[in-house]
Formats: sequence, C-alpha cells, structure tokens
Amino acid sequence: MSANQQMSEAWNGGESVHYVEEADRYDRQLAPFADALIERVGLEPHHAVLDIGCGCGVTTLAAARHVRAATGLDISTPLVQVAMTRAREADVHNADFVVADAQTFSFDAGAFDIVISEFGLMFFDDPVRAFANLRRALVHGGRIAFVSWQGLEANDWVMTVGEVVRRYVPLPQLGGLAGGPGMFALQNPDEIRSLVDAAGFVDVEVEPVTPGIVIGGGGTLDESIDFLLGMGIVRGLLSRVDAADRDAAVDAVRSSLASRYQPGVGLRLGAAGWLVSARAGQSPDAG
Ligand SMILES: C[S@@+](CC[C@H](N)C(=O)[O-])C[C@H]1O[C@@H](n2cnc3c(N)ncnc32)[C@H](O)[C@@H]1O
Repeated sequence: MSANQQMSEAWNGGESVHYVEEADRYDRQLAPFADALIERVGLEPHHAVLDIGCGCGVTTLAAARHVRAATGLDISTPLVQVAMTRAREADVHNADFVVADAQTFSFDAGAFDIVISEFGLMFFDDPVRAFANLRRALVHGGRIAFVSWQGLEANDWVMTVGEVVRRYVPLPQLGGLAGGPGMFALQNPDEIRSLVDAAGFVDVEVEPVTPGIVIGGGGTLDESIDFLLGMGIVRGLLSRVDAADRDAAVDAVRSSLASRYQPGVGLRLGAAGWLVSARAGQSPDAG
C-alpha cells in the first residue's frame, strides 16, 4: 500500500462530498480557528506561505491577502478544485494550488517562509516523516503554525452526539498518535511536542484555542442539525449504534440540541483545539 492510501481514498471519496457541497458553511463554522491561526503566525508581505491540507482553500486565500505568494497543497482533488475556483472568482492572483501528499511531496528545500494548516496535519501514516518534509520546505528559522483538535470529550460540539451514542455503545478511544491517522491524532500536547521536535523544529509552543463555533455557520435549527449530522465524525459515531436504534438516537440528538439553539445566532457549541507553532531548525542535510 502506498503512503496515506486510505486517507487519500477517503478525502477523494466519501469525506470530500460534504466538504465540497458545504464549503462556505464549513468556513463560517471554523472561522474562529482560521482567524486565530492567521493572527498567530505573523504574516509579512515578503513571505511565501505553504498551506497544508488546504481543503477548499479558505486559509490559503486568507493568507494570500497578507503575503507575496500562498500555495495550498492537499491530497484531495475535489477540494482543490473548489479552492482553485474560489481563487479565480475572487481574482486572487498570488495563490496557487497543488494536489499532492504532503508527507511525500518533493518540495524545493527552503522554498517557503511559513507553513500553516487548519486541521490538515492529523492524517499522516508517518507523522515524523511528514513533518520533517514540511521542515525541509521551510527556510532555516521559518515558522510552522497549525491547529489540531483536542480530544473528543473536550469538544462539546461532537459530544452533543457522543453523549447520546454512549447510551447505546461505549465511545471509541479515538486519537493520539498510536491511534493512527484521523481527526484526533494530534490531541495530546506532549505527543505534539515530541513529534514536532523529532521532525527538526525548535521553540515549540502549544496553546489551547477554545472558541464557540456556530454549527454550519448559522441557519435554522433544522439546517444546523442536518449540517452536524452530515459531518464525517458524527456519521462515524452514529454508525456505531445498532441499526435498530439509530433513528431513536438521531431523534435524541435532535431534541438535545433544540434547547441549545439561539435564534439569530444559530447552534453555538463549544470547540477545543490546539494552536501549535514552532521554528524550523537547522536541516540535518545542510552542510
Ligand atoms: C479536516 S480537512 C481541513 C481542510 C481545510 N484546511 C479546512 O480547514 O477547511 C483536512 C484536509 O487535509 C487533507 N489531507 C489529508 N491527508 C493529507 C496529506 N497526506 N497531504 C495533504 N493533504 C492531506 C484532506 O484532503 C483535507 O482537505
């Protein structure tokens, strides 16, 4: 099996469908994280930025407004197609996009000043190799900044469903690097520090980011719940419930969420991520 084959199939198949259909709503939902990321990384006009797991390009295009050039790289062809269309429609001429696996792509050494990622670095089957590859793409002293999710239990927005699912079956032990690639792979700050350090970065900082997020970026209660139920993590949790109980579980999710809906705002639920930043150390292959 080639590197990241399963994830490549997922992000070019089932996982991509909801993202492509609902790209604008995902962007609104995750805006607090994108804003924190762009603010933290300290972009300057002379920078060349690489956005890993850029998806439909929201953070690439946001970065492009501040810097001379921004490149979005993602393993998913359908998502990158959305990103390219958005760049064209918004007349952004300093952003380009590449479909590739960030773990194995042959970057020109030192081609970028900054690497950013919004929830795009948790899906590697060899995380040290992938992060070392990103470090190679950076100039010496260049910065990486990314957000990853804290654990399932820390994320109120997923646990609204988790609490219902656990009435039927135990919740899975998701995440940590030992759990393999996936949404919660980078949930443990000590593991994040060790990984980033092993890949040749220095000055690693891991800060919590715990905003409220508006599910689907707003809309009616039904629209918000339908959006949440369409998300991969939620579909995955609900699929653990026996088929005979699934409708009852979905009804229970709907009624538990109804009380949390705020008219004029939407379904605003707690979210918890890590904002990680570090600098590229001396490349071991530098002379
Ligand atoms: C949770 S989505 C985040 C997308 C986007 N950054 C956003 O915030 O909307 C994760 C992204 O990582 C991409 N991805 C997963 N594995 C990858 C890999 N090995 N190389 C590059 N991109 C990858 C997926 O295709 C997907 O677009």
